[in-house]
Amino acid sequence: MKGLGATGGAGVVYGAMSAIGLAPAAAAAAFRPPAMGDLVGQAPGHHRVVVLGAGPAGLAAAYELGKAGYDVTVLEARTRPGGRVWSIRGGTEETDLNGETQRATFSEGHFFNMGATRIPQSHVTLDYCRELGVELQPFGNQNANTLVNYAGDTPLSKTSVTYREAKSDTYGYVAELLHKATSRGALDDVLSADDKAALAEFLTDLGDLSSDGRYLGSTRRGYAGEPGAGTDYGTQLPPYGMSDVIRSGLGRNFAFDFEYDQATIMMTPVGGMDRIYQAFTDRIGAERVRFGAEVTAVRNTPDGVTVEFREGGRPQSITADHVICTLPPHLVPRLDHNLPADVVAALGSAGRTSSGKLGIEYSRRWWETDQRIYGGASNTDKDIAQIMFPYDHFHADRGIVVGYYNTGPRHQAFESLTHRQRLAKALTEGAEIHGDVYRDGVTASFSGSWARTRFSESAWATWDQHSPEYRLLLQPVGRIWFTGDHLSNAIAWQHGALTSARAVVTAVHRRVAGAN
Ligand code: FAD
Ligand code: PHE
Repeated sequence: MKGLGATGGAGVVYGAMSAIGLAPAAAAAAFRPPAMGDLVGQAPGHHRVVVLGAGPAGLAAAYELGKAGYDVTVLEARTRPGGRVWSIRGGTEETDLNGETQRATFSEGHFFNMGATRIPQSHVTLDYCRELGVELQPFGNQNANTLVNYAGDTPLSKTSVTYREAKSDTYGYVAELLHKATSRGALDDVLSADDKAALAEFLTDLGDLSSDGRYLGSTRRGYAGEPGAGTDYGTQLPPYGMSDVIRSGLGRNFAFDFEYDQATIMMTPVGGMDRIYQAFTDRIGAERVRFGAEVTAVRNTPDGVTVEFREGGRPQSITADHVICTLPPHLVPRLDHNLPADVVAALGSAGRTSSGKLGIEYSRRWWETDQRIYGGASNTDKDIAQIMFPYDHFHADRGIVVGYYNTGPRHQAFESLTHRQRLAKALTEGAEIHGDVYRDGVTASFSGSWARTRFSESAWATWDQHSPEYRLLLQPVGRIWFTGDHLSNAIAWQHGALTSARAVVTAVHRRVAGAN
């Protein structure tokens, strides 16, 4: 029991206890409430489940079913686990749907995440990391020392401004304006005298206002010369002008980390997001996860499901009591199948998203030494959208910067380019933000575009989760069950895939247990 508990989490302990008749009495003593990463249950008899895809949904489904004693086989077309969780390291090789082959030559130990890279504190993804023993570290989602740089024709347009300057000045002036409005009686119809006094106190603190309610600049903006010993008071710079700050829209991305899913602090596995799916694979058992197995057909039969796939170029088939299909929705109708027309139409109704990233390795961490940037991202309205700085290997001799991470038309501006062209464009735009140093010392690079990546062909699905099409796919078709982040309310998050998988596994178990 102890060994199982140590390796399998509370679900294994309880499931195994149930199976040998110890639960609930004996389990009561050892009971702890099931954690979010547990599924409690035990297969009644022998049931084979084939899972299509070894991304987060497929591996979580296989793991939970395995815990409950089901006979599970996972078929994965790629030669690695994780799906859209893909950490790029030296040796990673990929031929994209543009026909270009890239081979990453990043230095030993360095990587970047082409897909998932950050985990919110509320997501079940973290519970699986705990259960699987995947080591975590903080992910810097926002950094006051990174830059904003936006186009336009105001005095601050095309100028790089630190987030701390932009925030200090924007919040300072907005606080000053509201303070002014209330003290001039502009809001007397909605605010009492006590309300106004409390609001003035808050605004003075928010904007670092003077005692008479003016924003005159702030040490929050930082210093041109850092304060130090003795009479080294530091060199403060005056704020930008109120009208310039407001018209230039420096604050257009401030609300990003107000979002529920994007709040700092976020977390990430040490060594790359794919560590989670290597851990899942190890726990499930490598012999149960067949890589390089591209599914070509899935059909309900009178007493089960037949799956056809190609492995090492050889056509094969397998039968199962149930199939859990985690393929991106738009790829399912391409299989040979006997799904009903309304299901095929529903699968085809999911919208697709263009998105991708470019990793650039530099031989010097200029962002740390010259610009005092330790993680976080600079933002711009140029096509690159953002530059993400590494959260790992601080003070190493080299590191990988994500030169763009963008979606929609701004990503499409890169999607059809060759890798060399993508790099050239990203270096030009990046240098306009971080200076000429951005072009120096590039030693390796690798880019990807999810719409042009085999077995994905989209970054994530877009659709209305209240639509009849979406709701239809929440139901099984015979013994075929659909799952994936596209069938959740956390699309574009591992949490969506994991919760969707847990819901389907629970439903399969209910069906099987009910039938016996
Ligand atoms: P997938 O990961 O797509 O897995 C589906 C699997 O099916 C793949 O392994 C695929 O190879 C396989 N497959 C396809 N066709 C076949 C076939 N014919 N035969 C066999 N196998 C097949 N999430 C976060 O939590 N944090 C983030 O920061 C984050 N950022 C993201 C950034 C980007 C750019 C992208 C694209 C995604 C991001 N995500 C993030 C979302 C996360 O990656 C997905 O939610 C998650 O991977 C979805 O898991 P899934 O199992 O549903 O699908
Ligand atoms: N989850 C992805 C990310 O954090 C995609 C996403 C971006 C989702 C922004 C919501 C908001 O990069």
